[in-house]
Amino acid sequence: MADEKIGIAGTGFYVPEKVLTNADLEKMVDTTDEWILTRTGIKERRIIAPGETVSSMAEIAARQALDSAGVAPEDLDLIIMGTITPDEPLPSAACLLQARLGNTTAASFDISAACCGFIYALEIGQKLMQGGRYRHALIVAAETLSTVTDWEDRDTCVLFGDGAGVAVLSKGCDQGEMLDFYLGADGAYSSLLEIEAGGSACPISHEVLDQRKQYIKMEGNKVFKLAVASMVSSAQHVLEQTGLTSQDVTWLLPHQANLRIMKAVAKRLKIPVEQVYINVDRYGNMSGATVPIGLAEMDHNGILKRGDLILMVAFGGGLTWAASLVRW
Ligand code: ACO
Repeated sequence: MADEKIGIAGTGFYVPEKVLTNADLEKMVDTTDEWILTRTGIKERRIIAPGETVSSMAEIAARQALDSAGVAPEDLDLIIMGTITPDEPLPSAACLLQARLGNTTAASFDISAACCGFIYALEIGQKLMQGGRYRHALIVAAETLSTVTDWEDRDTCVLFGDGAGVAVLSKGCDQGEMLDFYLGADGAYSSLLEIEAGGSACPISHEVLDQRKQYIKMEGNKVFKLAVASMVSSAQHVLEQTGLTSQDVTWLLPHQANLRIMKAVAKRLKIPVEQVYINVDRYGNMSGATVPIGLAEMDHNGILKRGDLILMVAFGGGLTWAASLVRW
């Protein structure tokens, strides 16, 4: 039935066991716990162990989400993965995850939207399901930013962490209805946040590695200002589209890049800080994984109540921006 409701039937997340604290970073680069905490709100982040990958983290998060949804891996007919750090350039991390789950038929592919990966993947999943053919979809965002971080660059290495978050979308589910989305991008700002090497413009070579072009470079201050503006305008657009206001929002679930960005966004939207879900202190910036990990934590810790209105909003490399309103 084309008009069956599509909802978030289950959630799951995984973060690696290894904790890297600000005190650990003080021994690696010229920084202090005080600088990191006051500028970003981050106290510690998680880092993969040897052998862990995007698809291995995603498998653990996916099995938790499938269990909570009551959906068997073989019943999935769609897997969409938002990631900029797939296990390998080819095949997609979604195909590797599918194989780990023992599913042999689901349409599986990655998308690249950096920190907006989850919200982008969520809208693609919902729209494909509305087309009629798919009944159960796995929407994943997983990143190992530690593998593209320059651990000698204090401007960036204090910010990032690794993790995976998953949502299961099911037809006929009335929990977690996605009311609307607002996605956008402006590639004119691409150089503010980029990994130069590893693609067709700059294939990996010894020279490229010596120049450390395989790592994330960011103009943090410029990104900061654009982040606040684009998150506020994305949130306002999606609220307008649904005829709702920020007073209707129960939870603001923003991309967790920096506590100051989240507070500035909440203030401009007139949402009290007590209604902002925050875990950046424990995990740092895990790119697209931050939003689904926040959602799964809220779900599994009993924070979400049926009927709650969740405003998810993100921005990231591209630059990309995205917002979604979900009725739990
Ligand atoms: N420890 C100590 N000092 C530092 C560190 C550090 N780790 N890093 C930078 N500094 C210094 C700088 O060198 C600078 O010194 P100067 O004034 O002598 O030149 C000073 O601190 C201030 O630097 P700013 O860059 O102006 O600091 P700012 O307040 O902007 O904070 C930060 C930097 C945290 C990076 C902030 O700009 C930010 O969060 N930007 C947005 C990041 C983001 O959200 N990116 C997008 C998502 S990532 C993705 O898509 C994968």
